Amino acid sequence: MGYAKILSVGLAGVAGHVVEVEADLAPGLPAVVISGLPDTALHEARDRVRAAIVNSGQKWPNRRITLNLLPATLPKYGSAFDLAIAAAVLAGSGELPPVALDATVILGELGLDGTVRPVRGTLPMVAAAARAGYPRVVVPAGNAAEAAVIPGVRVRAVDTLHRLVAHVRDGVPLLVPPGQSPAGDPGGPDLSDVAGQPLGRRALEIAAAGGHHLALLGPPGAGKTMLAERLPSILPELDDGAALEVTALHSIAGLLPPGGGLLRRPPFQAPHHTATVPALVGGGSGLARPGAVSLAHRGVLFLDEAPEFGKGALEALRQPLESGRVRVARTRGATEYPARSQLVLAANPCPCAKPSGDVDCECTPQARRRYLGRLSGPLLDRVDVQVGLMPVRAAELLQTGTPHESSAAVAARVVEARRAAADRWAATGHRVNAEVPGPHLRRPPWHLPARVTQELRRRLDTGSLSARGYDRVLRLSWTIADLDGRDRPDQHDIGEAIQLRTGEGT
Ligand SMILES: Nc1ncnc2c1ncn2[C@@H]1O[C@H](COP(=O)(O)OP(=O)(O)OP(=O)(O)O)[C@@H](O)[C@H]1O
Ligand SMILES: [Mg+2]
Ligand SMILES: [Zn+2]
Repeated sequence: MGYAKILSVGLAGVAGHVVEVEADLAPGLPAVVISGLPDTALHEARDRVRAAIVNSGQKWPNRRITLNLLPATLPKYGSAFDLAIAAAVLAGSGELPPVALDATVILGELGLDGTVRPVRGTLPMVAAAARAGYPRVVVPAGNAAEAAVIPGVRVRAVDTLHRLVAHVRDGVPLLVPPGQSPAGDPGGPDLSDVAGQPLGRRALEIAAAGGHHLALLGPPGAGKTMLAERLPSILPELDDGAALEVTALHSIAGLLPPGGGLLRRPPFQAPHHTATVPALVGGGSGLARPGAVSLAHRGVLFLDEAPEFGKGALEALRQPLESGRVRVARTRGATEYPARSQLVLAANPCPCAKPSGDVDCECTPQARRRYLGRLSGPLLDRVDVQVGLMPVRAAELLQTGTPHESSAAVAARVVEARRAAADRWAATGHRVNAEVPGPHLRRPPWHLPARVTQELRRRLDTGSLSARGYDRVLRLSWTIADLDGRDRPDQHDIGEAIQLRTGEGT
């Protein structure tokens, strides 16, 4: 807090040089000092950045702000540093998580209203970032096409300062340059990147097919984040009604990509664990901004490092998850936004987060229980699939023979399974198995013969499974049957469902 550093690029002739933009926020009379050989445009940057931050709905810190552009020896011209300066100020004042923009080079001029304007010389600037070995560059949307020409660096674009902030804070996607995402390709990361992890993949596929909430537990590096980010890639496209709802919510939030039509892919939202309650559930005066729960409507809400979320944040999520709607407070009265999303939780099973998991863990059993216990009441109880993952083995990671199955292949099975479920529940109005109430599954015509549910009933009697757990296993077993093309779950489906529900055998 108080200090942040963001990368940008300055041009000397046609050669670009990576520049570090430092912001230091100190107590004292509010003022902005810029050092590091700035020209007049840079001094004007101060006023543009301040207006852009305020007009994007962010707080301008009332502190003494020193901005320093390094190396000091490089003359710096123009307005391409605006966006980096804004990011440095927001990170320095704690409005953005400080590590989020590490190793990311940021270019762009800001309009007073917070729009990001194109800058001249984007191509040589991106080339300089790539040459210096930086993996990611963020450019103005108007320069995305020319920036995408440079190989070896991941180019993403922004149209507004608000999008950059929402990306860092809540995982709102940045814009993909034209030509980088071929038509029909959902874009985003693909399951073909994931080696091994048969249990994790299976859990992801079942969660997608049945619309079940999912919890991924395991030590650092097990691939929890990697798997969660790939859930949207195996979900079906949004139908017309859903696409309209989702597009409307993103429009109200000011997050629609320019020139785009209806959003057809399920959205993905990954709010950081430091996100405020309004950022999660929405709020604000006038036309209230939808929060992450609504921006994830009909898509995926991913809570990474879930136990690190504050008590207030977890509590605030409970009601929207239960009702699929969220009441958003405004200056006058309240309004409601839809918030029906699929929840994915990722967590280390204990607070020490040792890479080898249980082997090196020195936490007491009480400490471990308490850590995950933070999730249990409000959230974990609603999660049908809970699996424990171990880090992938070297042999699997380095295996070069057959390629890993792609998202497209898995998505094809998911679509079939969803169709089977939708046909079955058509008369009830439910679309996916996760929505079907337990009593419904225990009564004719859907109740399963005693021979199939034998193990379930035994667990219920011995108390190793709660009545609620019983219903969850039933729901999961229907999804497993749908995926495997059976019209009813059999004993094996129940067995696998028990494993996925309890994390047994992992
Ligand atoms: N199964 C896998 N196949 C290929 N790469 C993997 C796999 N698992 C992990 N990795 C690599 O390890 C990195 C870390 O994975 P990831 O961030 O998903 O782990 P995590 O379980 O979320 O860890 P943490 O608890 O630290 O957040 C990934 O970016 C990827 O490069
Ligand atoms: Mg992770
Ligand atoms: Zn531990």
